[in-house]
Amino acid sequence: MSNWKYLTDRLAAEHHLTDEEMKAVLLCDAPGFDEYISEKARKVREAYYGKDVYLRGLIEISNICRNNCYYCGIRSGNTNCERYRLSKEQILSCCDIGYELGFRTFVMQGGEDPFYTDELIVSIIGDIKKKYPDCAVTLSMGEFEKESYQKFFDAGADRYLLRHETADKAHYEMLHPAGMSFEHRMKCLRDLKEIGYQVGTGMMVGSPYQTAEHLVKDLRFLKEFRPHMVGMGPFIPHHDTQYADRPAGTVEMTVRLLAIIRLLLPDVLLPATTALGTIDPVGREKGLLAGANVIMPNLSPADVRAKYLLYDNKKVTGDEAAEAVREMEKRIASVGYEAVVARGDHADFRE
Ligand code: 5AD
Repeated sequence: MSNWKYLTDRLAAEHHLTDEEMKAVLLCDAPGFDEYISEKARKVREAYYGKDVYLRGLIEISNICRNNCYYCGIRSGNTNCERYRLSKEQILSCCDIGYELGFRTFVMQGGEDPFYTDELIVSIIGDIKKKYPDCAVTLSMGEFEKESYQKFFDAGADRYLLRHETADKAHYEMLHPAGMSFEHRMKCLRDLKEIGYQVGTGMMVGSPYQTAEHLVKDLRFLKEFRPHMVGMGPFIPHHDTQYADRPAGTVEMTVRLLAIIRLLLPDVLLPATTALGTIDPVGREKGLLAGANVIMPNLSPADVRAKYLLYDNKKVTGDEAAEAVREMEKRIASVGYEAVVARGDHADFRE
C-alpha cells in the first residue's frame, strides 16, 4: 500500500499523526490523494452529523477596528476604508429577519471597536436571548480581558470565535504589529474555554510567509487545544495592505486542510468559509465534500456588506438575505447535503 494511503487511514482511525507524517500528508502530490482523504473525511463527518449542514446568520456589526493586522482590509491604518457600525436596533432587526429564515444561531462579528462597551454588548446579547431563547449567540469580536468574556457569557453568549491566525510566535509577529501579542491571543483562547464557551479558532491558509512547518504547528495546536469549531479559509490579498501583491492561498490546500481537520477532530464544527467561496465559485461545495458541515450566510444589512471587506473580491450581493439563503440551500443540496433549522451545538454541549 502506498504511504499516503497508510497515513490517511491511520489519521482516520487514530485521529493523530506525528509532525513528520503530517508534513508528508500536507505536501503529498500523489494523484488520487485528495479524493481519497476527502472521502475519508466525508465518512467521518456523516458518522457524526449525517447529511446536516448548520447555518449561522452572520451579522457584521462593525468594520471599525483598533488593530492594524497587516493582512486585513479593515485594519486601523487603512484610511481608504469607509467605516460603519450597526446600532443595537439594527443588529436586532437582522436577528428578526434571520429567525424568520430559519437561523437558530446569530454570529456577531466585527473589528475591535471600542464603541461596543461591555455594557452595550451585554445588553445586546440579553435582548437577543430574551426575544429568541431558542437561539445560540456567537461572538466574534476579538480580544478582551477575561472579566469581559465572563460578563458576555453570563449575559447568555454561547460561543466565541477567535482565530489564533498562526500557532508560531515568530510568524504571528510577521503578520501583526508590535502592539499585538501572540501570548495574549492564546490567553484569550484559554480564558474562553475556561469560562465555558464553545470556542472556535483557526488560521488562514497561505498567509504571507507561511510554511508547511507552520501548518504542522497549527494542526498540533488544534489537536491539543481541542476547539469546538475551526474557522479556516484561504488568505486573500487586500489591495490596501502591505501584502497586496502576495498570492492567495489555494483551494486545493484549503480543502485538503479541511479534510485533515475533520479527521484530526472528528466531531468539530467546521465551516466552509466565504473566503473559500471567493477564490473558487464552488469552493464551499468542495469544502462540504471534504468534511465541512457549517455555512455562515450573511445577514448584515445590504448597504453595509460592501464595506466589510477583509480581502479583495469578496462576493457581496445586494440580494435580500432570504434570496441568499435559498441560493445557499440549493448549493448545499447540490452536493447531497441538507441545510437544517437547528442551533447546531457541538456534541459536548447538547442537552
Ligand atoms: N484574507 C483572508 N482572511 C482574512 N482575515 C482577515 N484578513 C484576511 C484576508 N486578507 C480573517 C482573519 C480573521 C478573520 C475575521 O478574517 O483570519 O480572524
